[in-house]
Amino acid sequence: MIGRSERRSRLPRSLGGSSRRILHLFFAILLPTMATFCARRTPVPAPSQTASPKKDKVRLGRDLYVSQGCTFCHGREGLGDGSGTPDSVLQPANLTDPASYKQGRSTSDIARTLELGIPGGAAAMPTYSYLTLEQREAIAAYLISIIDTGSQ
Ligand code: HEC
Repeated sequence: MIGRSERRSRLPRSLGGSSRRILHLFFAILLPTMATFCARRTPVPAPSQTASPKKDKVRLGRDLYVSQGCTFCHGREGLGDGSGTPDSVLQPANLTDPASYKQGRSTSDIARTLELGIPGGAAAMPTYSYLTLEQREAIAAYLISIIDTGSQ
């Protein structure tokens, strides 16, 4: 019968205690490092790459809607109930209602409305001609996404 000690003795004796420790260190440190390195190299699609460009545009439009102060008149959800409305001559449009889009509600119609604004005194719709066409189209995409077309 082969005893434990004998079996052990089959391990390469030529490796002294310190070399064996180095070998252990090699496996203990290098392998996990390599594993993480390889894992990182595996292409994991970033969230923005998985989302559709259309969704990204709507999200950008929503951000602009808030940052450009549309909420001031149209309210956070576009219902035309912003805090800036009580003294307005013209009631800010409820942007979820398709009937509010008198100038049209295609992407280019809305982008044009934002470029030209709606005249009608101080409380009317300001122009947003300083925004790029891309930004105005993103806002349009957002608005189109919140228009409640019901069964249409
Ligand atoms: C100072 C208040 C005010 C702000 C700020 C404002 N609006 Fe308006 N908006 C109005 C008013 C008032 C109307 C309705 C005009 C009318 O009834 O003819 C309107 C109408 C609209 C319409 C409908 C246009 C149409 O086709 O008849 C859209 C779309 C719109 N706003 C989008 C926006 C967006 C997007 C922003 C921000 C970039 C914005 N508004 C900022 C006051 C505002």
